[in-house]
Amino acid sequence: REAQRDDPNVIGFESSGSDSESSDESLKKVKVDEEPPEVEVVNGTNAQIEDQAGTVNGSEEMPVEEVKAVDRKPAIFVPVNRSAVVQKARLKLPILAEEQEIMEQINQNSFVVLAGETGSGKTTQVPQFLYEAGYALKKMIGITEPRRVAAISMSQRVAHEMNLTTDEVSYLIRFEGNVTDRTKIKFMTDGVLLKEIQGDFLLAKYSVIILDEAHERSVYTDILIGLLSRIVPLRQKRGDPLKLIIMSATLRLEDFTQNLRLFKVPPPVIKVETRQFPVTIHFNKRTFDNYLKEAYTKIVKIHNKLPDGGVLVFVTGQREVKTLVRKLRKAFPLKQSTGIEDHLKKTLRQAKKKKGVTPIDLDDYSVPGDNEESGDESDYDSDIGDGVVHTNKPLWVLPLFSQLPSGKQAQVFQPPPEGCRLCIVSTNVAETSLTIPNIKYVVDTGKTKVKLYDKVTGVTSYMVTWTSKASASQRSGRAGRIGPGHCYRLYSSAVYNDAFQEFAVPEIQQKPVDDLYLQMKCMNIDKVQNFPFPTAPDLMQLKTAQSRLEILGALKESRVTQLGRAIARFPVLPRYGKMLALSHQQNLLPYTICIVAALSVQEVLLETPIAQSPMEAKTLRQKWVATRKQWAGVGNSLLLGDPMVLLRAVGAAEYANADGKLESFCTENGLRHKAVIEIRKLRIQLTNEIKLNVPDADIIVDPKLPPPTDLQAKLLRQIMLAGMADQVARKLDPDELAEGEDKAKFKYAYRANNMEDPVFLHQGSVLKKTLPEFCIFQEIYETNKMYMRGVTAIEPEWLAIYAPGACHFSEPLLEPEPRYDPSAGKLYCTVSATFGPQAWSLSNAEIE
Ligand code: CDP
Ligand code: MG
Repeated sequence: REAQRDDPNVIGFESSGSDSESSDESLKKVKVDEEPPEVEVVNGTNAQIEDQAGTVNGSEEMPVEEVKAVDRKPAIFVPVNRSAVVQKARLKLPILAEEQEIMEQINQNSFVVLAGETGSGKTTQVPQFLYEAGYALKKMIGITEPRRVAAISMSQRVAHEMNLTTDEVSYLIRFEGNVTDRTKIKFMTDGVLLKEIQGDFLLAKYSVIILDEAHERSVYTDILIGLLSRIVPLRQKRGDPLKLIIMSATLRLEDFTQNLRLFKVPPPVIKVETRQFPVTIHFNKRTFDNYLKEAYTKIVKIHNKLPDGGVLVFVTGQREVKTLVRKLRKAFPLKQSTGIEDHLKKTLRQAKKKKGVTPIDLDDYSVPGDNEESGDESDYDSDIGDGVVHTNKPLWVLPLFSQLPSGKQAQVFQPPPEGCRLCIVSTNVAETSLTIPNIKYVVDTGKTKVKLYDKVTGVTSYMVTWTSKASASQRSGRAGRIGPGHCYRLYSSAVYNDAFQEFAVPEIQQKPVDDLYLQMKCMNIDKVQNFPFPTAPDLMQLKTAQSRLEILGALKESRVTQLGRAIARFPVLPRYGKMLALSHQQNLLPYTICIVAALSVQEVLLETPIAQSPMEAKTLRQKWVATRKQWAGVGNSLLLGDPMVLLRAVGAAEYANADGKLESFCTENGLRHKAVIEIRKLRIQLTNEIKLNVPDADIIVDPKLPPPTDLQAKLLRQIMLAGMADQVARKLDPDELAEGEDKAKFKYAYRANNMEDPVFLHQGSVLKKTLPEFCIFQEIYETNKMYMRGVTAIEPEWLAIYAPGACHFSEPLLEPEPRYDPSAGKLYCTVSATFGPQAWSLSNAEIE
C-alpha cells in the first residue's frame, strides 16, 4: 500500500477490510444503533428540519443491505505530495502504524472513538488519512477544537505537511478565518460548528466531523456530541452518510461510549499507544503560595545543574506567562552568551523560509507577547525574587498561551538556537492541545484557572485553583516523549492527595442552567430535558429554568422568542441578560452593566468604620451616613433602591480614582476598596464581551459614570423589574399576622411572591425609611432572619407592563370602552390584573 502511495499515478484501490466477518458484525450493531432520537428539533431556520426529526421519530429499522451499500463504496486514494522531511517526521508518529485499522473502522462505522495519548498524531494525521481516502473529494472534512489557538495552529501545520495552501486547509474561529470555496479540511472552534448547525442542521457540506479534544469537556463539544449522535443517522437515512469521529486523550471514555442515551451500542474505540518513557515525579516537601516564585527558582536550578533537555512550565494565564518569561530572560540574557547572535541570524533565515512562523529578533525577544490585555487575567503581584544563577549557558525562553499571535505560537515548534536550552512557559494549552517537541523536564505549578459563574448574576470571573489529578498526569507525561524525564510538582503529595479532584468537572455541570437552557433553545433544540448530554446537568434545575424563562418572556409555548434571542446575546444569567437587552434599547447599557457588576460583588458598602479612636469612628460614620443619603437621592430625585445607591457609589468612586484619590475616597465614604476595583474589572470584562456579542451596542469602556437623571433612574428601576419579575415582594399587612404576634417585630416585613415565610428589609437598605408598598429584590439570604438583598422600589402599575408573564389578566372589561389608536393601528382595552402565585390584585391595566 505504501508503494502505491508513493506513486502519484495511483488514484484508487479497493479497501481490503470491508469484507471481513467481524466488520459485518459491527455493521449490524451500527444499524440497531440508529435509534430514534428523543431530541426534537424545532423548525427554526430550515423548514425541512422538523420533517426529518419527525421521520426519525418514526423509528423503523433500517435494512442491513442499505447501510452496507452506502458504506461499501470502494476506498479512493487521493495522492498528497509531502516533502521528504515531513514524511520522515510523520513515520515516527505512532498513529501512522494504525492508519489501516483507523480507516477501516471509520469506513465501516458511523461513530468512532479515537483515543490516544497527546502527541501520538491524532489531530495532525487523521484529517490527512481521511483526505487521502477521498473524504474531501465532494464535501469537507471538519475538525472542531475547543481552543482557538489549536484551530489556527493545527490548520497551518496540516497545510504545511500536505503541501497545500491555507485556501485548502483552513480555519474558522469566531470573527477570523481563511476558509474559501476550495477548502477541503476545515479546522474550527466547537462554537463555530454549533452556529453552523443552526443554519444547516444536516451539515450538508461535510462528509465527516471530527470532534477533537473531547476529553476537555467544553460545553460546546458536549452539545455537539449529543446533536451529532442524531444528525449522523439522519444523514445515513438520506443515503448521504456523515461520519463522526470523537478524538480524545485516554480519559474517562465511558462518558461517551457507555452512555446509552447517546449511542445504543458503544461505538468502536481505537486506542493509539504512544511510546512513553518513564517520568520521575518529584513532589515538593512543602507547598508555597507564591507558585510563580517557586517555578522560577526551580527552572533556575534545573538550568544550573541538570543535563541538557527542554523545560516546559505550566502556569495559569497569559499574565503569569509573560511575567515569568520576562524574569527568566533577564536572568539568562542571551546577548552575554557567545555566538548567540550568529545563531539567531541563522534561525531568522530559516524561519523566514517557513510560512507561518514569525522570525525572532533580539529586541522582540526581551518583551514577550504583545500588549493585548484580556479581561480574564488574575492580578498577580510579580514578586518572584531572584534565584542564584550559576551558569552562563543560554536559556531560550518562549511564551505560549491562547491569545499569542499564531506566528509567535509557531516558534515553540522550532528547534532552539544551538547550545541553548529550550524553556517554554505555557498555560494549559500545552497540556493536551499542543505537543512541544524535546521536553525532558516539566515544572508543574499544579494550578489552573477556572471560569467561575456568579451564582446570582451569572457574571463570569476567573479563579486560580488546583488542577485535577488527571491533568497533573497529562502535564507530567509531556516529559517522557523523547526519553526518560522528570516532572517537578511544586506542591506536596499531601496536597495532591487531599485537594486534587480525580477529573475536572465537565463545564456543562458548572454553567448556570438558565443560561444553558436558553442557549440550547436558541440552537433550536426543543426538549432540553431529553437532550442526550454526555453528562447531564441537573434535570430538576432545567425544569425550573424553563419556567423562569417563560416568566421572563424569553420562551413562549416552549419556543424561544425574539426577546429570548436578544437576551441570549448577553453573557450573564438570562434575567440580567434581559435587563441588558432592554437597556440597550434605551441607551442605558453602561448603567445596567455597572449595576450587574456591582450586584455580583459582595460587601461593596461597609457597615462599620475601622478607626483609631471611638471619636474618629463616630465622625466617619456620620460622614458615611450623609454620603449615602446623598447617593439615595433627595426629594423628587429619590433613586429608590439599593442597586441605585451602588450605581452612584461606584460612579463617584471612579471619578475619585481618575483624580488618583480612590483609596481615601473609599475610607471616607465607607466603600470597600477591593470591591470597587473588582467591580471595575467586571464592568470592563462585561463591556468587552458585550461588544463582541452585540456588535450594534456602541459602548465605550470608561469607568467614570455620571449619576443617572431622574428619568433614567426610573427607567432603570423598570428595567430591573422586567428582569426580576419572579422576585417581587409586597409590604406585609399587619392584619395578616396570627393572633398574639408582636406587630412591632414585623415593621420591616414583606411577603415575597415566591416564599411562604415573611422576608425582611435589612437595616442597611436605603429603603428602610420609605418602606415602599412593592419592591423587587436581587436575592434572599438568611442570617437570624430571611433578608432581602439589593432591594428596589417599584410601582404596582408597572407589574402589568413589565412583568406580564407573571400576571393574570381578566377578560377585557366593558368599562371604559376599548380605545383604538389609529396611528399605531392598535386596540387597547382595560383589564383587571392579579400578580403572581398569590394573586395580588393590581389596579386595572390597559393592555394592547
Ligand atoms: O493530536 P495529538 O496530540 O495526538 O498529536 P498532534 O497534535 O497531531 O501532534 C503530532 C506531532 O506533530 C507532535 O509530535 C507535535 O510536536 C508535532 N507538531 C509540530 O511539530 N508542529 C506543529 N505545528 C504541530 C504539531
Ligand atoms: Mg491533538
